[in-house]
Amino acid sequence: MKGILLAGGSGSRLYPLTQSISKQLLPVYDKPTIYYPLSTLMLAGIRDILIISTPRDVPLIEALLGNGERLGLRLSYAAQARPEGIPQAFLLGEKFIGDSPVCLVLGDNIFYGNELGEILKKGAQLKSGAQIFAYYVNDPENFGVVEIGADGKVLRLTEKPKEPASNWAVTGLYFYDSQVVRLTRTLQPSARGELEITDLNNLYLHGDQLSVRLFGRGFAWLDTGNHDSLLTSAQFVQTIEKRQGLKIACIEEIAFRQGFIDAEKMRELAAELSSTTYGAYLLRVVQETVRW
Ligand code: G1P
Repeated sequence: MKGILLAGGSGSRLYPLTQSISKQLLPVYDKPTIYYPLSTLMLAGIRDILIISTPRDVPLIEALLGNGERLGLRLSYAAQARPEGIPQAFLLGEKFIGDSPVCLVLGDNIFYGNELGEILKKGAQLKSGAQIFAYYVNDPENFGVVEIGADGKVLRLTEKPKEPASNWAVTGLYFYDSQVVRLTRTLQPSARGELEITDLNNLYLHGDQLSVRLFGRGFAWLDTGNHDSLLTSAQFVQTIEKRQGLKIACIEEIAFRQGFIDAEKMRELAAELSSTTYGAYLLRVVQETVRW
């Protein structure tokens, strides 16, 4: 399974914050936003990852994350000159995907919850069809909305419906089989001039190849798409991290616990940041015998 992290878009809803920098590089409490979706892919066990952003922001993201080697990852980059919809990621990533299944995560989506890693690892085993994830929200009209039958099957998917038939929003995390590039090519731009991820998911649905997994009440699905959600996401992370003394989406820690890097490498990474609380945390992780 390969991974694509879509960190594009003009971020205009966050202006002036994002007038000169990608929203994925803004902080969510103690780390850049992009660490959160990257950690989601890593928790799924995915190490081969394509990061897509604007021509302006690719060099900045690359300066932050490099080729991923220090985390035991293979990171590559592609520029999206104009944002023409989420599925464009599969056209830009065609060569990268090859004939592999692929997981797509949106760059402003934060996932947090018990056993998230197990759920993601199951998703990463997908060989055929597609899997989406849904989360119960107060404002479903702002998202893709899924209607689910009594048997847990997807009945209908609608993009930002004025009158949502359910409160289950489709999150920005998707697993697809290797048909994804071919199916994306058949999509037509919507009224807002973009290829729609919901149209792609509907192709899988109509082929009876779409499953949905619900993130229950114990989960947090947050995004950083506007000023309030950026702040509340930071406050959420701060609350949990202060309470537990454990970090959310610490990519070095995840690389270590997933076995992508060894203790020696972790010590090296900690040493690079030795004068910071982040570096002290990395050192603690490697020294602790109890594994969380
Ligand atoms: C996009 C998708 C929508 C999905 C959402 C998740 O919306 O079109 O189906 O629910 O991401 O973050 P957008 O961010 O483009 O408004």
